Amino acid sequence: MPGLLRIPRIPVAGRSSPPAGAPAGNASHGLSPKPTFHRRTSEPRPPTPCRAVSSPTVSEPDFIRNTRASYDSIATEYADRFPDDLERRPLDKALINAFAELVRSAGAGPVADVGCGTGHVAAYLSSLDTPVFGIDLSPKMVATARQTYPDLRFHVGSMTAIDLPDDVLGGIAALYSTIHIPDDQLPDVFTEFHRVLAPGGHLLLAFQAGDEHFELTERFGHAISLPCHWRRPENVTELIDKAGLVMHAQVIREPNENEKLPRAFLLARKPR
Ligand SMILES: C[S@@+](CC[C@H](N)C(=O)[O-])C[C@H]1O[C@@H](n2cnc3c(N)ncnc32)[C@H](O)[C@@H]1O
Repeated sequence: MPGLLRIPRIPVAGRSSPPAGAPAGNASHGLSPKPTFHRRTSEPRPPTPCRAVSSPTVSEPDFIRNTRASYDSIATEYADRFPDDLERRPLDKALINAFAELVRSAGAGPVADVGCGTGHVAAYLSSLDTPVFGIDLSPKMVATARQTYPDLRFHVGSMTAIDLPDDVLGGIAALYSTIHIPDDQLPDVFTEFHRVLAPGGHLLLAFQAGDEHFELTERFGHAISLPCHWRRPENVTELIDKAGLVMHAQVIREPNENEKLPRAFLLARKPR
């Protein structure tokens, strides 16, 4: 892999634990067109930070365990249905291009595609000569990504506790993966992004814009238990700001033909 940093021992999810996930409300990000869901109340916070890892532990929070199990059970169908639709989303592609250019010109380090799923965004970034590796909570999604893109590196791990030293990444791409993080955990995830980004490093975040929290209970004929959170972009922007990152651009695009909700793209950087 071009210019990748050595990752300490990743199949580790870090201090907390990792999962897998996918969204509803959108055919391109998968878990929808017609989601089956139950409304849920707020997620319990894990009692103490825990270093969980390649295998679940008793202290692992439910949202991690459920997200991982959900994506593990649908990984094959997910990859078949949503192989790589960036070609059908030119604006999304343009924003990834801009992110890659900012990362390259800052020269601050490689990109981690966090919640990389099938790995297609990492592959696209790599095609732009951007050093990149993927991290995903779901071992099955990671296996799919490795099989599809054998020249790239993918690791099992969680964005809630990224197994990297401070200040090492030139960029974080987190497309439709923070949607599985409960509200009370999201500030800590952005603090974690800030920690691992090098000064001058950039964050590209994408998510369904909305205001709804639910659990997806069925996808591709599988019974799952996948927490999903559609959020107002301004609320997410505020959290990113509180984590110490500086907002560079906020783009909201209307849903494409197979999508139900607008898409939010937030581009931020860690100050030098
Ligand atoms: C909807 S898919 C998006 C995949 C990819 N980013 C894309 O845009 O096609 C969400 C992915 O996030 C992963 N994920 C969910 N929670 C995660 C976490 N805490 N840490 C790392 N990955 C996570 C899931 O396993 C899943 O592969």
